Amino acid sequence: MYKVGIITTSDKGARGEREDKSARVIREIVESEGWEVVNYQVIPDDFSIIKETLIQFSDQEKLNLVFTTGGTGMAPRDNTPEATKTIIEREVPGLPEVMRAESLKITPRAMLSRAVSGIRHQTLIINLPGSPKGVQECLEVIMQALPHGMELLLGRGGDCAR
Ligand code: MTE
Repeated sequence: MYKVGIITTSDKGARGEREDKSARVIREIVESEGWEVVNYQVIPDDFSIIKETLIQFSDQEKLNLVFTTGGTGMAPRDNTPEATKTIIEREVPGLPEVMRAESLKITPRAMLSRAVSGIRHQTLIINLPGSPKGVQECLEVIMQALPHGMELLLGRGGDCAR
């Protein structure tokens, strides 16, 4: 129904030194919703590469939804939120707000995530943390409202009154 992209930002992953379990968790949840993962890339934690990949996924490939995983913390190479912020046109602050709020009930380390979310044209981009556990916990929370948000973004009905 929706075309989804997954971008894993990880220097080790891009060098083939780490198995990417987080993208697998995203794919399972996306497919259980009936949505299709049409592109998936593992790239280094490099600001320009992240930015270019986000632009490619939204402008060239016109994906409806792009999940990033990793690079949202405070390490020197954690560049995902900055790259995302430079290319989005409209921020969607509620998604990272609720991810942090609900995740804080599980781990105080949730407050270390600097994840952002926003819209570029008709593509919604959502930063997720890097660990498979973090991905699972955050997606479980936002999936409660995401289908409705996608309807609104793409003008496919989406009646808010109920
Ligand atoms: N959120 C949830 N739900 N579960 C987690 O285990 N890990 C936190 C946080 N958010 C975590 C989480 C940790 S330890 C960090 S450092 C930040 O996400 C940033 O992670 P990242 O740099 O891998 O993106």
